Amino acid sequence: MYYFIETMTEDDIPHVQVIERQSFTTPWSANTYRREIRNLQNCRYVIARASTTPNGETQRSPSPAAPRPFGIFSQLAAIFLAEPPAPANLPPDPTPIVGYGGVWLTVDDAHITTIAVDPVYRGQGIGELLLNALIDHAYDLGAHQITLEVRISNTSAQRLYLKYGFQPGGTRPRYYTDNSEDALIMWTEAINTPTYRARLTELRRQLVVRLQRQAVTDETKER
Ligand SMILES: CC(C)(COP(=O)(O)OP(=O)(O)OC[C@H]1O[C@@H](n2cnc3c(N)ncnc32)[C@H](O)[C@@H]1OP(=O)(O)O)[C@@H](O)C(=O)NCCC(=O)NCCS
Repeated sequence: MYYFIETMTEDDIPHVQVIERQSFTTPWSANTYRREIRNLQNCRYVIARASTTPNGETQRSPSPAAPRPFGIFSQLAAIFLAEPPAPANLPPDPTPIVGYGGVWLTVDDAHITTIAVDPVYRGQGIGELLLNALIDHAYDLGAHQITLEVRISNTSAQRLYLKYGFQPGGTRPRYYTDNSEDALIMWTEAINTPTYRARLTELRRQLVVRLQRQAVTDETKER
């Protein structure tokens, strides 16, 4: 399976919400997503799609105005996985959405507002792929640092963020209304420094190698 990143459109929202409901106890409404993706001045939202071909984006028939995949990771690829079940009440999609994420610029810092991967596809590098796209957008928006909140208990997400240089910077007590759990606030260092850029370059190189290696291994199994 190949993965690529696209800008989220309003047509994507029902598919995003299927993953959202599987991932979060207090999912955002479709209206919230619409409002976020229309706020082009401060927000960027992306989706990850899976495809059986490296140029899966051409399998669909995007409208002339549809956004194109961007970034070096649009060419990344190759993880062979079982075909996921089609979401209930949604037509089958040859390039299903398997994850999504968003970033929001506040003054000169970027805030990762959400990130989630379809449970069927987790642990394969798609969360990293999405985080890389969001970091690219944070650069484009002119952010100096990136921050986020994560549940104290969500150690798998915290490990992803730690890997990309986010460090704990405090807590927001009882931040999550469903169970009154505290949020851990995490911050990157300044993202425009040569040190952070070098770290990002190395992580991206490792991610490409990982995805390519998985592809070769899985392709061998398929034979
Ligand atoms: C957090 C989430 C987006 C990660 O996506 P993913 O595609 O599974 O993550 P990746 O495969 O790209 O993993 C990247 C890194 O994340 C960390 N990680 C991911 N899953 C992990 C797990 N189950 N246990 C420990 N670390 C984990 C690791 O550091 C991993 O790097 P490594 O493989 O080199 O060890 C996904 O688990 C998810 O959708 N969770 C539910 C929604 C959520 O909690 N979002 C975060 C809100 S703040």
